[in-house]
Amino acid sequence: MKQLSRPARRALLVVHVSVSVGWLGLTVGLLALGIAAAVTGSAATAEAAYRSMQIFGDLLILPIALLSLVSGLVLSLGTRWGLARHRWVLTKFWLTLAATAATAFALRPAIDDAARAVASAEPVGAAATDLVVAPSVATALYVFVTAISVLKPWGLTRRGRRARGTGRSSGAGTAGRRTKAASDGLVS
Ligand code: HEM
Repeated sequence: MKQLSRPARRALLVVHVSVSVGWLGLTVGLLALGIAAAVTGSAATAEAAYRSMQIFGDLLILPIALLSLVSGLVLSLGTRWGLARHRWVLTKFWLTLAATAATAFALRPAIDDAARAVASAEPVGAAATDLVVAPSVATALYVFVTAISVLKPWGLTRRGRRARGTGRSSGAGTAGRRTKAASDGLVS
């Protein structure tokens, strides 16, 4: 893929971080609502909490997940980070893909079930536990993803080492004292 210009990369990075960390914030909000609904003795509070979760689920959560994934993909493929050169990028990609699928196929249906049950004064059942467990796991996951984004651990993948060894990562090794990130053109 054609490399992004510096202004385009910076603008996209702002969008990516805002959306991705926004996803983490939204998930903490869903967790608060899930806990409130599970522990309250009030049917009205439970209904309000599940209905609020449903509004977030219907309007926000999938667009945010997909925008995080797509902006991350473009940033990877459009810069020398690459998608499969650095372990932290590849790990983020698979975790985000799994989280997006779990959001679409497990979290949203569980929210819909719970909202439907409270609206018709039926017991919510297992969905009440699911709607505490799922946002808890997701929160831990997005904190982990944020941490590896900032710390960028674990070095290069085999493919990344090969690319560097064959000199395709231009600049690497030529600068002598320059830092690895600077020689890769990855500092902003
Ligand atoms: C929950 C999902 C995600 C979160 C919370 C997240 C968070 C972040 C954060 C905080 C940064 C800024 C790091 C820094 O500049 O020090 C970042 C950068 C980056 N992210 Fe993500 N990200 C997510 C998903 C993804 C995905 C799915 C990919 C790739 C497929 C990706 C690829 C990248 C790349 C390549 C950068 C560095 C961009 C650059 O410096 O040009 N991210 N991400």
